[in-house]
Amino acid sequence: MASLSSSDIDIAKAIRGELERQRTGLEMIASENYCSLAVLEAQGSILTNKYSEGYPGKRYYGGNEFADLCENLAIERAKQLFGAAHANVQPHAGSQANMAAYFAMLPIGGKIMGLTLSEGGHLTHGSPVNFSGKWYKIIPYHVDKESERLDYGEIRKLAEKEKPDVILAGYTAYPRLIDFAEFAKIATDVGAKFIVDMAHIAGLIAGKAHPDPVPYADVITSTTHKTLRGPRGAFILCKEEYGQAVDKAVFPGTQGGPLDHVIAAKAVCFKEAMQPEFRRYAKQVVENAKALADGLMEGGLRLVSGGTDTHLVLVDLRGKNLTGKEAQNTLEAAGITVNKNTIPYDENSPFITSGIRIGTAALTTRGMKEDELKAVAGMIVRVLDAPNDDSVKSKVKSQIRELCDKFPLYPELG
Ligand SMILES: Cc1ncc(COP(=O)(O)O)c(C=O)c1O
Repeated sequence: MASLSSSDIDIAKAIRGELERQRTGLEMIASENYCSLAVLEAQGSILTNKYSEGYPGKRYYGGNEFADLCENLAIERAKQLFGAAHANVQPHAGSQANMAAYFAMLPIGGKIMGLTLSEGGHLTHGSPVNFSGKWYKIIPYHVDKESERLDYGEIRKLAEKEKPDVILAGYTAYPRLIDFAEFAKIATDVGAKFIVDMAHIAGLIAGKAHPDPVPYADVITSTTHKTLRGPRGAFILCKEEYGQAVDKAVFPGTQGGPLDHVIAAKAVCFKEAMQPEFRRYAKQVVENAKALADGLMEGGLRLVSGGTDTHLVLVDLRGKNLTGKEAQNTLEAAGITVNKNTIPYDENSPFITSGIRIGTAALTTRGMKEDELKAVAGMIVRVLDAPNDDSVKSKVKSQIRELCDKFPLYPELG
């Protein structure tokens, strides 16, 4: 069989170009990371050829000896890593995991209470353009206007008034710790189920750098590719009593055949996250985010909620007279990849925004520490202070090349 570079030079070139882009720029999108070679190998393996609808030992097709082996390992490791009673490792992505969790926990048309998208929630937490907003009655809660943090008193009042079927916690762009115990108390008091979407913070939770939702949540959904540093994919954890409903909601409820190659890579990622080294990594991600936050604030930028406890910061650009869209493009031209992001009570649309979200998970994987993140904060400030000055951008770009050379990425890939 021909290799990719001889059979499809266009795609081979694009992949090579993307490797070079990842190597020579600063990847600071909070939902991205660099997975290990072992994860890449499992995900790129011949398991992609297999069909295995169903679950280990109960498949609809033959030939599943090794698919079963991989899925059982992934399930057992997910349970062990997070101390959960039940795990389903088949969801293709975080959105599918959320769809299955809702299917399992409430009827179509039921009420879900989630943080509004523009303040840090995810599309699948009730956006009107998403299945969640179309199929469920969404009761949005908000962060406090002053502190820009969750206000548990207000969340309680809203829950008591609305009596939702489900309360959701866990976000896309919230830089502070979440009090899962308090959420669970509110949910119990109003007779709601409590679902946590830990997609962003799963790696911090696995590495003990963020409070643990497992003792409190009925169901937990997560992606594997953000701070957890695994393949693109997702999984669901839950209390034993919801295991059957969750499994049915994933297959046959919302998906067909599982992606066995990705499940194998999830198993590899769970094993990696059990190593002592991963705890050091998770702690460093947070230390690096704090160093980044300090550097940005020293440079005159305002951060939503005044800082961070997690892997990300949200920058309010209004003081610099820049939109998130402009800042994202300007930083990209200098070799720094971030994403535009709404800030709480943003007056700009999600396509423009008044903020950017910056994360430290990927740079920490490269080996960077507080000193480097402080230096990176200085570069970001210099670029944003002179968005139209190409000489500043090109100077920063060459500094970034030097920095990246000191922290090589995937040297084994040649
Ligand atoms: C909190 C949260 N949940 C779910 C998702 C959806 O994950 P996916 O993009 O894999 O569907 C995301 C993605 O960024 C997220 O931030």
